[in-house]
Amino acid sequence: MNALEIQNFTKFYSDKKAVDNLSLTISKGEFFGLLGQNGAGKTTTINCITGIGQFSQGTIKVFGNDVQTDYQLTRKEVGLSPQEFNVDMFAPIQRILDYIGGYFGMNKKERTDRINELFDLLGLTEHKDKTFRELSGGFKRRLILARAMMHNPDILILDEPTAGIDVRQRRELWNTLKELHKKGKTIILTSHYLEEVEFLCSRVAIMHEGKLISTLNKKEFTQNGKSLEETFLRLTQ
Ligand SMILES: Nc1ncnc2c1ncn2[C@@H]1O[C@H](COP(=O)(O)OP(=O)(O)O)[C@@H](O)[C@H]1O
Ligand SMILES: [Mg+2]
Repeated sequence: MNALEIQNFTKFYSDKKAVDNLSLTISKGEFFGLLGQNGAGKTTTINCITGIGQFSQGTIKVFGNDVQTDYQLTRKEVGLSPQEFNVDMFAPIQRILDYIGGYFGMNKKERTDRINELFDLLGLTEHKDKTFRELSGGFKRRLILARAMMHNPDILILDEPTAGIDVRQRRELWNTLKELHKKGKTIILTSHYLEEVEFLCSRVAIMHEGKLISTLNKKEFTQNGKSLEETFLRLTQ
């Protein structure tokens, strides 16, 4: 089954074409890397998958449902960890999760149980009474991941989830993501750390100036002893 089907998707900001006729299909259960230099159109695409961005050309479907006409349905299937922290820095972290649980119609008990479960899973329990700004960078990222997972979506979209965090915390996050993938989540990741993508993803798409220029599976992106980084640099010059 396809988790995501993007067909002939084009997105303009005024007269700037940010994404140009993108077609891409991702199967359920894939750990997929969306790559491209800054400005390639990754975040724009992600925002349109998750309903944050509007578009008028092409279609995007999540588990067969159109993200524009069946927004309520598709929103439930997707959890987004956005590139920029879009939270109230002063809010207690439990309230941040509780609020999003309420948005998805969970009752108080469901919300409390889920928060405890996620804190446990993501190693946040000892920080549970902190506000967002009191967390270190790696734990901020974890909290944002917890928020994305609050309603237990099947698809997780992680837009540069390891940007600006230290090596150890990055490795810990990798392990967490591997575990989530093993449990059946479909994961779509953007990252500039290509060794991270190589380690985690089984397939990648490379975007360049709004266009899809290549999709590669693991065998292809490590072919002839070349690293993904070398392949990426060659394709995007
Ligand atoms: N809100 C916006 N208004 C105008 N232009 C934008 C906006 N967001 C992104 N862009 C432009 O669209 C292009 C794609 O950006 P983006 O999707 O953020 O790329 P990426 O995530 O791959 O770095 C860039 O040229 C960027 O400057
Ligand atoms: Mg981006």
